[in-house]
Amino acid sequence: MSHQTVIVLDFGGQYNQLIARRVRECGVYCEVRPYTAPLGELRAVNPIGIIFTGGPGSVYLDGAPRVDPDIFTWGVPILGICYGCQLMAQALGGRVVPAQEDCAREYGKTETFFDTGCRLFRGLPESGITWMSHGDYMERAPEGFTLAARSAACPSAAIADEARGFYGVQFHPEVNHTGHGTDMIRRFLFDVCGAAGDWSMEGYKRTAVAALRDKIGAGRVLLALSGGVDSSVAAALLAEAVGEQLTCVFVDHGLMRKNEGDEVEAAFSRWAVNFVRVNAEDRFLIKLAGVDEPERKRKIIGEEFIRVFEDEAKKVGAVDYLAQGTIYPDVIESGAGDAAVIKSHHNVGGLPDCVDFKEIVEPLRLLFKDEVRALGRELGLPEYLVERQPFPGPGLAIRVIGDVTKEKLDMLREADAIFREEMARAGEEARLSQFFAALTNMRSVGVMGDGRTYDYAVALRAVTTDDFMTADWARIPYELLDRVSVRIVNEVRGINRVLYDVTAKPPGTVEFE
Ligand code: XMP
Repeated sequence: MSHQTVIVLDFGGQYNQLIARRVRECGVYCEVRPYTAPLGELRAVNPIGIIFTGGPGSVYLDGAPRVDPDIFTWGVPILGICYGCQLMAQALGGRVVPAQEDCAREYGKTETFFDTGCRLFRGLPESGITWMSHGDYMERAPEGFTLAARSAACPSAAIADEARGFYGVQFHPEVNHTGHGTDMIRRFLFDVCGAAGDWSMEGYKRTAVAALRDKIGAGRVLLALSGGVDSSVAAALLAEAVGEQLTCVFVDHGLMRKNEGDEVEAAFSRWAVNFVRVNAEDRFLIKLAGVDEPERKRKIIGEEFIRVFEDEAKKVGAVDYLAQGTIYPDVIESGAGDAAVIKSHHNVGGLPDCVDFKEIVEPLRLLFKDEVRALGRELGLPEYLVERQPFPGPGLAIRVIGDVTKEKLDMLREADAIFREEMARAGEEARLSQFFAALTNMRSVGVMGDGRTYDYAVALRAVTTDDFMTADWARIPYELLDRVSVRIVNEVRGINRVLYDVTAKPPGTVEFE
């Protein structure tokens, strides 16, 4: 099945991936391309529409991002958002100027009035809140355009040329703060571009399975399974496509949460794949003995992981393909920026150097995380695997603060399991992005029964976040904290104190190490 495609032309704005996700949520496939992509390359995609994203530039400055003007005579509908709107306006003969302090500069939630005769806003309320973030504004719309929305500060909150299918909005329909924002995107896709809504994970599964069979033929595939969502779904898809030709190597480093290894293994029992579970706990613990510096822990675990995988791969013998669970945000972000390394995230998927193979297959390369989860469900993976929160590659080693021992890991596993169980029981899971327990390196005095204790303190952490770049600590009910605390201290030998972390990121990080 081939599907229709929309191009999201990226001008460097902070919400660009969100735009692409919204389009996909509407059941329309889209690809993000940089604004520098030659027009020929975009034409080859044969898109039904193009969305220009926002961006940090100002269209009237030298060196501002531009597009090939032929894009406007191609006959494909365009929706410009924020910078993308200003760019289109200027390119077609309108006038964009810096907003004055008291006029047309807008940031945040803004009441906006829409022309509901315009196809973008048809059937929607005549006014509502939109999310604005712009320091420039369109003083004059280009010829052929009408003003389709206004706010108190800005008469040109949206412009439209219905005949050509060109629309521009100053606000951000992709962010949740814009009421009916997704409806506006849907109007553009379906009413303007004529989308059929032919993108679904059920369809993707069928196409991907067929394409993988075609590509792999009788070849053999090797995959490093970490138990995370991406590698699990990649494995399930390949299992569906090529069954026994797939070998999944699951390195159990002994740093998993309670029962996790068994759960992963059980989830794959429905496919006739070669599932190799390597119990490498001892190897990892020996290497980690006495190490307390977080970055050294990460490095040791990353390297040992590769050694173990290498040993197993040698036993499997020559393979044709190495499979990886790379997903679309990794593809979009790769090569972008070089932000300071706060923590060197060790990615258990990145192993291509150590194994003899012909080619890499990345069957999730075009999917966003939500789609990966939906595909996992489609393939019959259990809910606890597809809904899994992010779990760091180095596992509990970076949640045992200071040096790592089996005894500490076991204590932490029990405490963490109690926390997770109570959170699930209280129905808090869905609202939170990540929560876990960490074993602090602090011991303190307590009293239990009639005796004095001198045991470890466990810290609980729960956060909400959209992107894990920033996060807020979660306000969970005191009664719940109380239950968790009582249970941990009563049930886990060696822990006599429970702390709750109330630090946002920044200045904290999500993990403690
Ligand atoms: P931080 O602690 O950096 O965490 O605020 C942000 C997100 O990244 C996860 N994380 C890791 N993931 N290897 C990983 O694969 C790592 O070394 C690592 N350290 C942190 C963390 O769980 C959170 O989701």
